[in-house]
Amino acid sequence: MANKPTVLVVGSTGMLGIQIVSALLDKEATEVKAMVRPGSDSKEENRQKIERMKAQGATIVEGDLMKPETLPPICEGVDVVVSAVGNNQTTVPGQKNLIDAAKQQGVQRLIPSDYSVDYRKLDYGDNDNLDMRKEVLSHLQQSGLEYTLILNGAFMNNVGTPYMPQFDLDHGVFQYWGNGETPLDFTTTQDTAKYVAEAVSDPDLANTALEVAGDVLTMKQLLAAYEEATGNKLQEKRLGSAQDLKAWIDQKKPSASSSLEYIPQQYEYAMVSGKGKLDDIQNSRYPHLNPTSIKQFLASANL
Ligand SMILES: NC(=O)c1ccc[n+]([C@@H]2O[C@H](COP(=O)([O-])OP(=O)(O)OC[C@H]3O[C@@H](n4cnc5c(N)ncnc54)[C@H](OP(=O)(O)O)[C@@H]3O)[C@@H](O)[C@H]2O)c1
Repeated sequence: MANKPTVLVVGSTGMLGIQIVSALLDKEATEVKAMVRPGSDSKEENRQKIERMKAQGATIVEGDLMKPETLPPICEGVDVVVSAVGNNQTTVPGQKNLIDAAKQQGVQRLIPSDYSVDYRKLDYGDNDNLDMRKEVLSHLQQSGLEYTLILNGAFMNNVGTPYMPQFDLDHGVFQYWGNGETPLDFTTTQDTAKYVAEAVSDPDLANTALEVAGDVLTMKQLLAAYEEATGNKLQEKRLGSAQDLKAWIDQKKPSASSSLEYIPQQYEYAMVSGKGKLDDIQNSRYPHLNPTSIKQFLASANL
């Protein structure tokens, strides 16, 4: 890899992508190209993000994952591609196009858009979004391109969003499936971005995963951390076992009008069943990073 490798960030206007761009630029160890879709700056929010990335030192390049002919020129001269695309109909075909273009242009390493529990240990059908990760990983492995997976458990930033239905703050309830004692992995988006910036050129991370977690807590400890950090009391409500949750999802999914009605529960299943647990947390590879704990995060979050 070149002395100062060039990293291409795809999905750079996304919630996580822009933080990865910032973390890479802060580290000053790489040149950063940020891919945006043509016309992206017609949206005011994206225009501001693009200006911010430029001001920080990123080079903006235009491409569309669903227009494969746009990708090889963008991958030319790139050492590492980092994908931070979201979950939609482009996730699998778009990232496959990206992998093919990167391989064609001699890119050394690709980090696919994972940032999740250890989906490699889940079964197909356990989680629709993570099934897509499995499919992309399989294509990546078949391509022969070097890869690094970033696995960070759940984003702490999900607290207060539909992706963490455990916190029903409107009704003062903390509700969870499972026995409440299974360890669960959590990391902030900002810390995840910092670990990505370390991983891009770490020679020991070829064809393996970097597993990190800002905190590991059971559901009961998560509730206690919330109450301690915020001073608010929540009523604890156990909804059933992990297997009961699986049965609930199987019953809910066929009649759901939106995937939001069961996808958050699929993530919960991956965690409370223990199937997606990170078994090899490697925060200590980068001792200069001190990831945020849940209590620190909750104390500073405006909940
Ligand atoms: N572990 C967790 O708890 C957790 C929680 C949330 C997210 N995640 C993961 O984090 C990753 C990033 O998610 P996110 O929420 O940051 O995503 P996001 O905000 O939805 O951003 C998606 C990005 O992909 C770009 N994009 C979409 N279609 C594209 C195309 N055809 N060509 C090029 N770019 C395209 C979007 O560009 P535009 O701006 O032009 O639309 C945007 O920059 C995903 O893997 C997600 O599953 C994990």
